[in-house]
Parts: sequence; structure tokens; C-alpha cells
Amino acid sequence: MRTELAGKAVLVTGGASGIGLACARAFRAEGARVAVVDREPGTDVVRADVTDEPAFAAAVDSIAREFGGLDVVVGCAGISGPVGKPLAETTAAEVAAVLAVNVTGQFLLVKHALPWLADGGAVVLLGSDSAFTAAPGMAPYCASKGAVVALTRALAVEVPGVRVNCVCPSVVDTPMARADLGEVLDDPAFPVQAADDVARQVLFLASPVSRPVNGQALLADFGMSARSAFPA
Ligand SMILES: NC(=O)c1ccc[n+]([C@@H]2O[C@H](COP(=O)([O-])OP(=O)(O)OC[C@H]3O[C@@H](n4cnc5c(N)ncnc54)[C@H](O)[C@@H]3O)[C@@H](O)[C@H]2O)c1
Repeated sequence: MRTELAGKAVLVTGGASGIGLACARAFRAEGARVAVVDREPGTDVVRADVTDEPAFAAAVDSIAREFGGLDVVVGCAGISGPVGKPLAETTAAEVAAVLAVNVTGQFLLVKHALPWLADGGAVVLLGSDSAFTAAPGMAPYCASKGAVVALTRALAVEVPGVRVNCVCPSVVDTPMARADLGEVLDDPAFPVQAADDVARQVLFLASPVSRPVNGQALLADFGMSARSAFPA
């Protein structure tokens, strides 16, 4: 498949690690020009926190000005929050922190990239299978990812000329998942995907080859959510 992404100007948030880093590499491999916004240092990273609107807006503006506009933006910055913590011990501040990065950060990305996005441009946000299926001890994260799916749909109908989609992967072997799951990922009893798998899903949605796809959530979970309770 030819992605037709060569020469495109791409901005990736959260590109210093994990899925964002894999996306930045994958776009570069297609010949795209790539810049990254992250609160941590890394290759070609402009440092900014996606929850700090003035600093984040300035980072987006400076990248877009240098590129002369944007063709693709990818929102990978995210946190998992208090995974495994019982509901009764989870504080409002912890919930707010997860929503600030995972939801407001994505909203601010599109808000500030929009003036620079070319007609025919594409936005790809990182949702999660946690938008559709849940595990105990992940209520703030699940709520945030459900919001990303709804935000994707809302932006797709509000933003003319720019497609907005999200990817919703199951567990991906990244520093975030390692921090939450530890050595379970060394010999998992469940399917695990690589950050490069997700990057290919992102590339498809960013590319003109997915031209008719807009406002959609690509649930990539090895079919786990497709199973009914019917005993067959
Ligand atoms: N790893 C998984 O199993 C998995 C599964 C589904 C979805 N996701 C989603 O994929 C995205 C990337 O996750 P990952 O697993 O690569 O995690 P990661 O921790 O490896 O990378 C996340 C990156 O986001 C950056 N970041 C976090 N908060 C930020 C902020 N406020 N401002 C700027 N940068 C910030 C971090 O510095 C880091 O570089 C997240 O949105 C996550 O929810 C991950």
C-alpha cells in the first residue's frame, strides 16, 4: 500500500516514548517531515505539556510555522493514571489529571493545529480499547478514552475539510504498559501488540488511502471484544 505521506508535515504529541515514538519513526520512514511535542526530551522534541494551553499552543505554532502548515497531527500524549487503585481511594484530583492529559490535551491539539491544517488534512487521536471494554481499577482511564471516541466524532463533524479518527488498541508493549503491568508483559497470557503495530494503524488513518473514513474509532484488540457470552 502506498501511503502518499512523503513530504507531508506531521506533528506528533507524546512522541518521546512508546506509541508516539513509533509513529514518529514510521512517518519519517514514509518520507514525511515530523516534529514532536512532549513534556520529556527526545529526538526533534519541542518540550511542552499538552495541558498547559499557552505553552502547548506556542509549540504547535512554532512547528507549524517552520513547516509552513500541517498535513497530519497525531495525539499520542497520554497517561494511565491510578491503575489498580480501588474506586474509594481514587481522588478527584487523580481523575482530573487523567482527563486533563487524555481528553483536554487532545482537544487543545486539534484547536491549535486547526488554523494550520491543510484542506484534506488528517487528525489521528490515541483512544484505547478501554473506551469499549473495562478492567477493574481503571475507571478514570476508561472514562477518558470513552471521551476520546466521542471527541473524535464531535470534531469530525465540526471541522470541515479535515478528517478526525482515533485508534483504540488493546495492550501495547510500551513504557506505560510496563509501568502498569510489570513482568506480566514478559510472558503474557493475553495478546499484546507492539507500538509499531499501532503506528501502522495510525499511518493508514493519516493517509489519503483512508479518504472516506472520518469520525471513526479503529478498535484493534485481536477480536477480544467480539466474543459474546453465548456458550459455543
Ligand atoms: N500502552 C498501551 O497498552 C496503550 C493501549 C491503548 C492506548 N494507549 C494510549 O497510547 C498513548 C501513548 O501511550 P504509550 O503506551 O506510548 O505511553 P508512553 O508513556 O510510552 O508514552 C506517552 C508519552 O506521552 C508523554 N506525555 C504524557 N503526558 C504528557 C503531557 N501532559 N504533555 C506532553 N506529553 C505528555 C510522555 O512524556 C510520553 O513520552 C496514550 O494516549 C495511551 O493512553 C496505550
